[in-house]
Amino acid sequence: MKVVETNVKNMYWIEKGDKKILATKNMTPGITYYKESLFKTKVGELREWIPYKSKLAAVVLKGLDIGFMNDARRILYLGVSTGTTVSHISDIIEDRGVIYGVEIAPRVMLEFIGRVISHRENIIPLFFDARIPGEYRDIVDYPVDLVYCDVAQPDQTRIAILNSKAFLKEEGIVLYAIKARSIDATKEPKVIYREEAKKMEIEGFEILDVLDLEPYERDHAMIYARYKG
Ligand SMILES: C[S@@+](CC[C@H](N)C(=O)[O-])C[C@H]1O[C@@H](n2cnc3c(N)ncnc32)[C@H](O)[C@@H]1O
Repeated sequence: MKVVETNVKNMYWIEKGDKKILATKNMTPGITYYKESLFKTKVGELREWIPYKSKLAAVVLKGLDIGFMNDARRILYLGVSTGTTVSHISDIIEDRGVIYGVEIAPRVMLEFIGRVISHRENIIPLFFDARIPGEYRDIVDYPVDLVYCDVAQPDQTRIAILNSKAFLKEEGIVLYAIKARSIDATKEPKVIYREEAKKMEIEGFEILDVLDLEPYERDHAMIYARYKG
């Protein structure tokens, strides 16, 4: 087994035979969050980051350079769910920053708190509706460096735009996971990705990339954009 450093702090590749496994350095040794594997290595305990379970891991495998994570001190995460992806972002930023994790579903939030928050100090759970950013405006220490949006709702683009305008710094990064079927199940996903990216452009975002998440997630894409203010 060979461990290969990346340009992202606390993110590694584990090479095992002809297999290449994405991993983050586990901030909470011995603890797993979604049945991911743990590896004892010379750089510490590494936690597998599964692209079929996390859209952010999927885009890394599809070639997106997430080096901007090294400088992120404040991150706003919309649709944190039970915390699969945010647990890896938490490993990456460790004590350099904080992640605000917004989730609307009460049971999901409770599971998130029990599973992830109870072990990690760099995530602040926010039990709110991401459609109403004014309700958590006083809690979030903004401007944030990055907005991550994965809410799978018909108005997901509006939610991403609204929160970015409320909290994101000028030149800040947006990672917005689009679920095409939540917007229109009858339309070709690629058409939806183009239309939603256009809406963002009109609202002052520079689209840096649109990554189709196949084969990890069907009918999903990640819009990688910069907020021009
Ligand atoms: C696809 S899941 C997110 C998966 C998660 N991002 C991950 O990778 O680990 C979408 C989540 O968004 C939440 N959600 C949907 N609408 C929301 C809203 N208006 N405000 C906050 N959370 C919302 C859902 O309850 C659900 O947990």
